[in-house]
Amino acid sequence: MKKVYIRTFGCQMNVHDSERMLGVLRREGYAPVDAPEEADLIIFNTCSIREKAEQKFYSQLGRTRRLKRDNPALKVAVAGCIAQQQGAGIREKAPYVDYVIGPQNIGRVGDAVLGTEGIFTDDNPELARSDLPAERDRSVKAWINIMYGCNNFCSYCVVPYTRGRERSRPAENILNEVKGLAADGFKEITLLGQNVNSYSGDVSFPELLSRINDIEGIERIRFVTSHPKDLGEGLVRAMRDLDKVCEHIHLPLQSGSDRVLRLMNRKYTFSEYVSKVKMLREAVPDIAITTDIIAGFPSETPDDHKATVSALQEIGFDGIFAFKYSPRPMTRAADMEGQLPDEVKSERLTEILALQDRITEARNKALQNTVQEVLVEGTSGSEPEKMTGRTRTNKIVNIAPSGSVSPGMILKIRILKANRHSLEGEVIDGA
Ligand code: SAH
Ligand code: SF4
Ligand code: F3S
Repeated sequence: MKKVYIRTFGCQMNVHDSERMLGVLRREGYAPVDAPEEADLIIFNTCSIREKAEQKFYSQLGRTRRLKRDNPALKVAVAGCIAQQQGAGIREKAPYVDYVIGPQNIGRVGDAVLGTEGIFTDDNPELARSDLPAERDRSVKAWINIMYGCNNFCSYCVVPYTRGRERSRPAENILNEVKGLAADGFKEITLLGQNVNSYSGDVSFPELLSRINDIEGIERIRFVTSHPKDLGEGLVRAMRDLDKVCEHIHLPLQSGSDRVLRLMNRKYTFSEYVSKVKMLREAVPDIAITTDIIAGFPSETPDDHKATVSALQEIGFDGIFAFKYSPRPMTRAADMEGQLPDEVKSERLTEILALQDRITEARNKALQNTVQEVLVEGTSGSEPEKMTGRTRTNKIVNIAPSGSVSPGMILKIRILKANRHSLEGEVIDGA
């Protein structure tokens, strides 16, 4: 049997694309391995969202040159967003790369390895209709794509150039895949898209949620990522009324300054964002809200930055991902005036992260002595004697050792202690 090593960078979309490339390669007789030295085929599934992600990949890629010298039969593929963006350019930098496969062409990884070499970066409007097999590496939670690409062209973001135009997958295909996952014993599904809530298949997004909610065996439904401009009453009602849809939403704010939001082409103001948060919290009182923030966007003034800081204080997110602005090829912001020095971006990012750490900790502390429903996923990475899982609000809970706790169980857990990034609890009954 031939062996493939896949190294994945970037977002959940890429993680799931790797699962599907593995699904396709299985049919060609490949099995996954954990060490690149053992592989006949190495795939880098790359991310180009920020410069750092790109650097990380190139430093890894450099090491495969030696592997290829030791084993001339070894094939190397570069997939994902850098593959799409740089295409043949990757082989100019690294001639030992055999295949370049963009995100719209993951289904052709089988063609790639059967042929000799190639560049697969064409626009593929059929991607949303092709049901590719996926080999998922976990057995409790599954990712599932419902839409591809992005039409928003936020001025800092490379994704519209790497993932192509927005396309929604037909509802029937999605529902069939979810039924299959339920039959395989999966308990939780996460619907994926750069903009899940602008899903525009043959039914609306809230209707899609409602149909998935009816599928027996699936206990929890999540979705990422939602765009604030597309968040409407229909989705809020669905979150309130559908029992399996979890009380968590990831809703990237990016900045608290209207001037910066306009430059970012985000199409909402801070006060519009706040009113959506209010609507969510009224309908779903215990909802956890997480967000993304960019520090040091071009021309961001100290006052703009202050607006972001006070936005964090005002809203009280459960968690954030914050990044220094990184200029990306092809994007409008990269050519904007007022690019800030790295020290300024770092300083602002540090302030944002320190503030949010306190807020996250306080929000977690508020859960001490409450009882939470936890879906057990497996053993804890840091404390192998404990099991770990997540609350419906997506918070990690490590569970004190207790005889019969196993992955896939949904348990009532008393929260004993809150740390900054996780909770600790004990089983109170096996409901
Ligand atoms: N589609 C999602 C996520 C896109 S990428 C959305 O619209 O929210 C995830 C996050 O990376 C973004 O929310 C943004 O905060 C960040 N990001 C994207 N491009 C960036 C850049 N050039 N520099 C810094 N952060 C960036
Ligand atoms: Fe990028 Fe904006 Fe599209 Fe998200 S919505 S993927 S940030 S362009
Ligand atoms: Fe990265 Fe592409 Fe995802 S740029 S964040 S892997 S969509």
